[in-house]
Amino acid sequence: MDRSSNEALAKAPPRALKDLPGPQPWPLLGNLPQLDLPRMHEKLEGWAEQYGPLYRLTLGGKPIVVLADGPLIAGILRDRPDGWRRIGVIASVINEMGGDGVFTAEGYDWRRQRRLVMSAFDPGHLARFFPSLVRVTERFDRRLAEAAKSGEAIDLQAQLMRYTVDVTAGLAFGSDVNTLEGGSDVLQEHLDKIFPMIYRRINLPFPYWRHLRLPIDRAFDRHLAEVHKAVHRFIDEARQRMTIEPERAAKPPNLLEALLAARDADGSALSEAQIAGNVLTVLLGGEDTTANTLCWALFLLHRDRAAWDRLVAEVDATVADDQRVLHDFDRSRGLDYLEACLHEAMRLRPVAPLIFVESLRDTTLAGMPLKKGTIVFCVMRKSATDAATLGSDAAEFRPARWLDGGSDGTRALNRAAMPFGAGPRLCPGRYLALVEMKMVLSLIARNYTLFDVGTASGEPPAERLAFAMFPVGLRMKLAPRPGR
Ligand code: HEM
Repeated sequence: MDRSSNEALAKAPPRALKDLPGPQPWPLLGNLPQLDLPRMHEKLEGWAEQYGPLYRLTLGGKPIVVLADGPLIAGILRDRPDGWRRIGVIASVINEMGGDGVFTAEGYDWRRQRRLVMSAFDPGHLARFFPSLVRVTERFDRRLAEAAKSGEAIDLQAQLMRYTVDVTAGLAFGSDVNTLEGGSDVLQEHLDKIFPMIYRRINLPFPYWRHLRLPIDRAFDRHLAEVHKAVHRFIDEARQRMTIEPERAAKPPNLLEALLAARDADGSALSEAQIAGNVLTVLLGGEDTTANTLCWALFLLHRDRAAWDRLVAEVDATVADDQRVLHDFDRSRGLDYLEACLHEAMRLRPVAPLIFVESLRDTTLAGMPLKKGTIVFCVMRKSATDAATLGSDAAEFRPARWLDGGSDGTRALNRAAMPFGAGPRLCPGRYLALVEMKMVLSLIARNYTLFDVGTASGEPPAERLAFAMFPVGLRMKLAPRPGR
């Protein structure tokens, strides 16, 4: 577990947490005022440049270890759920919003829920769901066609979030919410307030909202209430289907019905709160992450004409002439260059650039003893862009690197870049996310010319962290592709 990719660290391991280098903390507040929360990941990456891949901060009067070394991070992530857990404040903030599910569960509860979630998102399930994915993608095409005709600049993140919400609700809950063709009061408009509030609350030094509701909390409560209404609607609809067709319980066609049907060896079911919590967890887990990754991929591809042209040629050779949307699941798995573009976008713009964990027992890190309860901030992008291991062009967008080096090269890249995490808690939605992203990029490549993907000022979009990392103010202008 203690093997590092960093030579200096391997040669001279730190002896104690107190000896680690790091920025000077302020009296009482520690390093919090220096962190600039919306850009915290960039700040931590910058300090890793200055102090090395293992350094120390002080927050809330406690020492925090910051780790930017790929192999050491992977060692920690693999040693879950027994050795490490997500930091407790994440679970308490998410659970009190009603999101008590697989993301925040630990130990036995986590193992039980994880099995159900994993089987709902396996490739076999995705293949059966594929026709619905095609239908949602056709709706997205209609939305893009309108914008292409009128020359309107689309708010890329908001539109892609509608797409991802529609896909997730269809696949995981068997409900067709159609936010893509809805007005302004749709589920997505309420859901997208949740990640920013989670991020705000986990970083506040004092949980004031448990004692006093400020206007921002009251507005949030209204959004959350709308999301809960939708969650309970999904559950009621699923129960009705299972009452009409009781045989669904034996082979549940989606995650929600599997959660409702699940029984332990002793016959006990998941609690109502765990069922609702997992519906919310999966809605949240599938929305911002996939939409934001697509935003970044489109931005990077628009700046690289040769990469875009190669992607378009691959899509033209894959999608049948008379189709606007890919209709064949097996072919969607074959778009190798397109998939390389997605991996490259996630390597350079990981939407989960930080993972926060806490040790569950006394342990060591790079030979340094750590007490049970020590918090570690894992900084994910440093190793993914490290010139010493990936070559001098490590910071550049070059999708072909995922194909050029054969399987050894891909393995090395996968070890360095971990956009879906690692170990037993690796993202269970990764296959779904990849298929969704392939559907969207192939739709655009096949039928549209990318006219502009950028901000109103023409400057590259800033990165902002709000639990997931997103590009600020990214808009897309399209034109119909000649002949389509
Ligand atoms: C590009 C898209 C996505 C990215 C980059 C992403 C990334 C991640 C990351 C980094 C984690 C934490 C892994 C860890 O702790 O080691 C995670 C966990 C999770 N993700 Fe995703 N995710 C994506 C899409 C999805 C989708 C589409 C879903 C479901 C519809 C989903 C559901 C979840 C769940 C339920 C967890 C918690 C797993 C657990 O704790 O056992 N994600 N994801």
